[in-house]
Amino acid sequence: MNKFSHIIGKSPALESVVRSAQMIAFSDVGILIKGPTGTGKEILATAIQQSGPRAEQPFIKINCAALPKGVIESELFGHKKGAFTGADTDKQGLLHAANQGTLFLDEIDALALPVQAKLLRFLETGECLPVGDTQTITLDVRVISATNSDLDDQINQGLFRSDLYFRLNIVPLELPALNERTEDIESLCTFYLQKFASKYGVQSAKFSTLSLKQLRSYSWPGNIRELKNLCERVSVLLPGKTLEPENIPKEFVSQLTVKHKRDISILPEAGISLDALEADLIHQALTRTNGNRSKSARLLGISRDTLLYRIQKHALGTR
Ligand SMILES: Nc1ncnc2c1ncn2[C@@H]1O[C@H](COP(=O)(O)OP(=O)(O)OP(=O)(O)O)[C@@H](O)[C@H]1O
Ligand SMILES: [Mg+2]
Repeated sequence: MNKFSHIIGKSPALESVVRSAQMIAFSDVGILIKGPTGTGKEILATAIQQSGPRAEQPFIKINCAALPKGVIESELFGHKKGAFTGADTDKQGLLHAANQGTLFLDEIDALALPVQAKLLRFLETGECLPVGDTQTITLDVRVISATNSDLDDQINQGLFRSDLYFRLNIVPLELPALNERTEDIESLCTFYLQKFASKYGVQSAKFSTLSLKQLRSYSWPGNIRELKNLCERVSVLLPGKTLEPENIPKEFVSQLTVKHKRDISILPEAGISLDALEADLIHQALTRTNGNRSKSARLLGISRDTLLYRIQKHALGTR
């Protein structure tokens, strides 16, 4: 069975990522899956692992942002007894536990620089040095990593090693935000409405043409996770119903309305300077996202390339 078949969507943006992922599943090439929250990084990583030759071997997932900074090195690489206070016994790291198999490093941008250096060494040589040990062990682990941060920005700020980035990002896999592939919204809704109908033993709800149109103009900050939650909610509350715009929960409707009407500003009688307004909005977006260009582009509803062009045009990088 094709392990990618439950990744729903036929948009060119998604299909090209899935195609690349299928091609590299059989090799051990470095993988870095990028994409905003809820776009499917983890299900893509899982599909890659399940279709490759290591499918029957251990698959260990770790969220680097969920562990305290001081703990992560010993979690990954293991430690020797007495390496630090509280290290009462030798402990095997997760890399060791994943030997012959795959390690999924989620939110890899949260790794501190020294751990990044150690990981790079492991990727290049297969050598793993437990904390407090002098002897390396050689392991065979495929590493798949993921991030929803803008690693280019992190590299520019000296927070992420560019050599590790290049090692991981050999075949770039960047999942698009849902609002960049609105043509997939209908099939995702159908898939999840049917799934939840069978889970709860009810008749499947259905979005009307008009409500689908509204859903396509919503910004979906939580991407597919948010759409899935909406489908679960309406499946339970309105089973079997054809859902009209008034049946879509309020928080979606209010945001829909603003985006739909594009009524965030009214042109004053005296006119404005469109250029200055554009520069100001870009400046506001950059300030709100701490300079993160991908997030700023999303806030402004434009592509990252367009944003970079406009930042240059307004000389905003130098402000
Ligand atoms: N293309 C898709 N088709 C069907 N379901 C999807 C798709 N993409 C994501 N999902 C579902 O959306 C939810 C979020 O996906 P996932 O956890 O893989 O996202 P993520 O990118 O890892 O998010 P985060 O950055 O928040 O960790 C999951 O329940 C997943 O099954
Ligand atoms: Mg995830």
